[in-house]
Amino acid sequence: MTSTMAQRLSGKTIVITGASSGIGRSTALEFARTSPQNLKIVITARRIDALQDVAATIKSEVGEGVQVLPVKLDVSNADEVRGFVEGLPEGWRDVDVLINNAGMVKGVAQAPEIAEDDLNTMLATNVTGLINMTQAIMKIYKARPDGGRGDIINIGSIAGREPYPGGSIYCATKAAVRSFTDALRKENVSNRIRVMCVDPGQVETEFSVVRFYGDKEKADAVYKGVDPLTPEDIAEVIVFAAGRRENVVMADSLIFPSHQASPAHMHRKS
Ligand SMILES: NC(=O)c1ccc[n+]([C@@H]2O[C@H](COP(=O)([O-])OP(=O)(O)OC[C@H]3O[C@@H](n4cnc5c(N)ncnc54)[C@H](OP(=O)(O)O)[C@@H]3O)[C@@H](O)[C@H]2O)c1
Repeated sequence: MTSTMAQRLSGKTIVITGASSGIGRSTALEFARTSPQNLKIVITARRIDALQDVAATIKSEVGEGVQVLPVKLDVSNADEVRGFVEGLPEGWRDVDVLINNAGMVKGVAQAPEIAEDDLNTMLATNVTGLINMTQAIMKIYKARPDGGRGDIINIGSIAGREPYPGGSIYCATKAAVRSFTDALRKENVSNRIRVMCVDPGQVETEFSVVRFYGDKEKADAVYKGVDPLTPEDIAEVIVFAAGRRENVVMADSLIFPSHQASPAHMHRKS
């Protein structure tokens, strides 16, 4: 017996950016577990070895019903994004769902000490990369009858709603994701293109390791005494959003662990 959600997702082609770790990786696994009979998942990121591991894990867990295609893609490279759809093999270009998840934060510096490199990387990945990916996939959606059909699920953050000191650029990128998402939804109100945003609070992934330039000790300190969300928690919400009936748009969602109520409101056990 298959669930209603499995039936709704069955036959779809899903593209996930940033699927080599954290939320993106868990989302690929969650889609596969939810609809294991007939699904195509394109997993993308810069680390191809990690993507191949994700593909192997899915294959061993759910078998042949889910086809997984690992594709090396740096979303901050506009040329790579431009060639992405054309570079997909025959039978993989009819994308139904795009999960714009690739994103990162670099450092905790405050102006005027923010490194230009960090500023440019965050903007190019979180904002320009997400918009370029959306435009590339929207062309597929728009070519469908009645003005278009397909899902775009953007991963924002509580940081896009409540900016905090030491995160000004990251917060600005996520506020940009929020504005872009909301405008896009309004632009597509006459068709079946669903534009959604999932805003996580604190999730334990490689996120903080990246923020602290690989310093695991500093990253671990972020989660000391708290009980953060897992990437699986967010993956469940993403798959739920994609698995709604066609006329249901889960436009917006904010997900906290129970110890958190804003970037600064954290209950920390001493
Ligand atoms: N963790 C949190 O607390 C939290 C809270 C709110 C929102 N978020 C958002 O959730 C999303 C996923 O983050 P995460 O927590 O799962 O962190 P993560 O474990 O570090 O995963 C980030 C993913 O993005 C990919 N990525 C980074 N730069 C990329 C690029 N230029 N091109 C393609 N892929 C790139 C990474 O893969 P490669 O390095 O292999 O390219 C990795 O797969 C991000 O947008 C983040 O801002 C996270």
